[in-house]
Amino acid sequence: MPQMQPKAPGLPGVRHIIAVSSGKGGVGKSTVSANLACALAAAGKRVGLMDADIMGPNMPIMMGVTEEPKIQKTPTGGEEFIPPTAQGVKVMSMGFLVEPDQPVVWRGPMLHNLLTQFAKNVNWGELDYLVIDFPPGTGDVQISLSQLLPITGAVMVTTPQEVAMQDVRRAWRMWSQVRVPVMGVVENMSYFICAHGEKYEIFGKGGGEILKTKFSTELLARVPIEIAVREGGDLGRPVVVAKPESESARAFTELAQKVMAGAEQLASAQPATVEIGKF
Ligand SMILES: Nc1ncnc2c1ncn2[C@@H]1O[C@H](COP(=O)(O)OP(=O)(O)O)[C@@H](O)[C@H]1O
Ligand SMILES: [Mg+2]
Repeated sequence: MPQMQPKAPGLPGVRHIIAVSSGKGGVGKSTVSANLACALAAAGKRVGLMDADIMGPNMPIMMGVTEEPKIQKTPTGGEEFIPPTAQGVKVMSMGFLVEPDQPVVWRGPMLHNLLTQFAKNVNWGELDYLVIDFPPGTGDVQISLSQLLPITGAVMVTTPQEVAMQDVRRAWRMWSQVRVPVMGVVENMSYFICAHGEKYEIFGKGGGEILKTKFSTELLARVPIEIAVREGGDLGRPVVVAKPESESARAFTELAQKVMAGAEQLASAQPATVEIGKF
């Protein structure tokens, strides 16, 4: 992997690109991506959501997308995708390009070509934020897209368990190698509040806090386990939209505030002064 690489050329009209990443699957990365996008839109921002999880693209379902992207000719004779809008967010997913239930095996140059198309041939229009839901781990998609797109910063999603944290550490290192600053950590499924209002720390406490101490990074949000979060994903109405008063929606809204502040800070910082992360 290259230690240094030139910054990728910008996407015309797109101001900030936020990577949502995790070391492993099932920690709620897509849930965080969808709700972050909706919370940014609720804050009045123009938002796009790119589902780059080739192996398990689930953004069309989670966001309740009902249309396919349109394909139109470009002035130069090529073709481009116009993403459909759901919940006020423009959504483009690998899921639109592959058949449901079709096993997708993308390797090397084939994968890179597909990602190049995906990165360059979508007409997002004017966006304040493009949120990218990455596949779990530290593979080719992360490396290719970080070379194709100028990613402002990465948000790491973890659960409080130690195993997930080992994985998140690897992902952290990978972002550092491709020169993408990590904005901070979202600790998902942090706790559960029972009907009587008692708080249970199911997986133990403070994974995000440990990362904060070890990596000197910010804990951006702690999102509780709530039935409404899972339902929101299954029904295509993220909890930020369906139940904005819930504890989890409030956590996602706080996350969006911190992402906006962090992105502005990174955009105005000289590249040399941006701290990439500590190991
Ligand atoms: N905070 C939460 N509370 C309840 N269910 C959640 C929460 N976060 C995620 N889930 C559920 O856990 C499952 C995995 O989440 P998902 O976002 O698909 O993970 P990933 O993208 O990391 O694989 C989904 O069914 C989702 O609805
Ligand atoms: Mg996912």
